[in-house]
Amino acid sequence: MIKIAPSILSADFSDLRSALNLCDAGMADYIHIDVMDNHFVPNLTIGPAVVKSIRFVSKTYFDVHLMVTNPQGLLNAFAKAGANGITFHIEAVDNPGSLIDQIKSLKLEVGISLKPATPLEKITPFLDQIDRVLIMSVEPGFGGQGYLPGANERISEIRKYLNEKCLDRVLIEVDGGIKLHNAKEVIDAGANVLVAGSEIFKANNPIQTIKDFYQLTE
Ligand code: DX5
Ligand code: ZN
Repeated sequence: MIKIAPSILSADFSDLRSALNLCDAGMADYIHIDVMDNHFVPNLTIGPAVVKSIRFVSKTYFDVHLMVTNPQGLLNAFAKAGANGITFHIEAVDNPGSLIDQIKSLKLEVGISLKPATPLEKITPFLDQIDRVLIMSVEPGFGGQGYLPGANERISEIRKYLNEKCLDRVLIEVDGGIKLHNAKEVIDAGANVLVAGSEIFKANNPIQTIKDFYQLTE
């Protein structure tokens, strides 16, 4: 059974309460929160203060995706704000091992994300220490982009590696350009978690769209 993680980056920022209520009505497993610092990526979004205020709206798992150059500087603030899992980018850190330990010491789940062009070998040394791999199927920074077809091979490659190392407990989350029409091939490639922003929040019926994603693997 796949997990669906609506990305609120594509939601109406003037009414995040309704966006979270939609996710919960659609029984989404995660709320995907895209944090951008206008440094690691050319966009600036939300920080711990917003996460703290929406934490009271929903009990759903907050899946925080840090697209920032200094993730270690933000860990405590996001942990206090109510994050359940923190995913950082391998390209942004010199010492992933110590960052993983810091996130775990905050009792949070930990993920590593990699941009489309980053070799998978960059993260293989850490796979036995983390809960999820976040495969970017777009260049990080914006919602509403097109799915990069090369992502399917990367998903299959990492799935094969994880199975060979008996690490199938590590989730593969795929992020960017996921639509109802391409989700099945992403799942067949080995994904466990699908992030979808514009497909859900720009839909006429976001709740039904979330349910339609779940129906893909029934
Ligand atoms: C992009 C973000 C994605 C994005 C997904 O940098 O990490 O989570 O919001 O949005 P869609 O599904 O519209 O590509
Ligand atoms: Zn994201």
